[in-house]
Amino acid sequence: MKFTSVASALLLAGAAVAAPSKLQQRRHERSAKRMEGRRSLRPLAVNATSLEDVIVADNPDEVTYSSNWAGAVIVGTDITEVTGTFTIPTVTIPSGGNSRTEYGAAAWVGIDGDTCESAILQTGVEFLIEGSETEYAAWYEWYPDYSYEFSDFDVSPGDEIKATVIATSETAGTATLENLSTGDSVTHTFSNEASLGSLCLTNAEWIVEDFESDSELVPFADFGTVTFTDASYVTDGTTEGVSGATIFDVEQSNEVVTSCGTSGSSEVYCTYE
Ligand SMILES: *[C@@H]1O[C@H](CO)[C@@H](O)[C@H](O)[C@H]1NC(C)=O
Ligand SMILES: *[C@@H]1O[C@H](CO)[C@@H](O)[C@H](O)[C@H]1NC(C)=O
Repeated sequence: MKFTSVASALLLAGAAVAAPSKLQQRRHERSAKRMEGRRSLRPLAVNATSLEDVIVADNPDEVTYSSNWAGAVIVGTDITEVTGTFTIPTVTIPSGGNSRTEYGAAAWVGIDGDTCESAILQTGVEFLIEGSETEYAAWYEWYPDYSYEFSDFDVSPGDEIKATVIATSETAGTATLENLSTGDSVTHTFSNEASLGSLCLTNAEWIVEDFESDSELVPFADFGTVTFTDASYVTDGTTEGVSGATIFDVEQSNEVVTSCGTSGSSEVYCTYE
């Protein structure tokens, strides 16, 4: 969008709309809906140099360190639904960061992508900050595709968001976000994603991620704390809690930058250190 043209200047003046932030402009230049170049990835090993270099949750008794995933992962069978509720945090620049870099992080729930290589069905909210500008966006994704924005669902810090993914088959399902303060919700229905990749229905996830932006991980933002409450998943038709999940923490440049865990059977928390 250009703001030098008379027509858009008039439109903006007429509607008395605040000028969009740099971050908003940049995203809208990419595309209205498809968040070109932005997506969630599988959990990469620490210091990974390629997307094939992943780390899986194979030891629930130890923390798994990853370049990009922080949170909790369950490995199971016939996982058809994952849900969790979180309050959108206020994003800040990490200490030692600078005002000319864009930092980001995203909180989401999902099915697969850990031991299952072929797909992730997921939905959540991303947080961006550059200088004094922040941006919060609600999205859904069927990895390996990019994320798509729920363009009619504005989110801001303090909103209590219930995120749910449901797989109706290995190639179909829904991604739903609900604002528990207002009861507003949005759903995207995936009807046949066989061309992208099939789900295995073997992983349930509650994650804060350093997502991919233009082929690299975005510099990780300080997301404060994200706590998923009422976290549960459905396996073989039964609803279960998060006890026994493998905990992931993000390690970058030799430093562990998150501290995540579970509390009771229905809470997953992650704090940026
Ligand atoms: C990651 O790279 C750093 C710097 O090269 C190195 O010191 C560290 O041991 C590596 N960490 C892992 C887990 O490979
Ligand atoms: C969510 O609820 C808050 C009120 O707590 C409201 O300010 C916000 O606009 C709502 N967002 C959506 C997308 O409904």
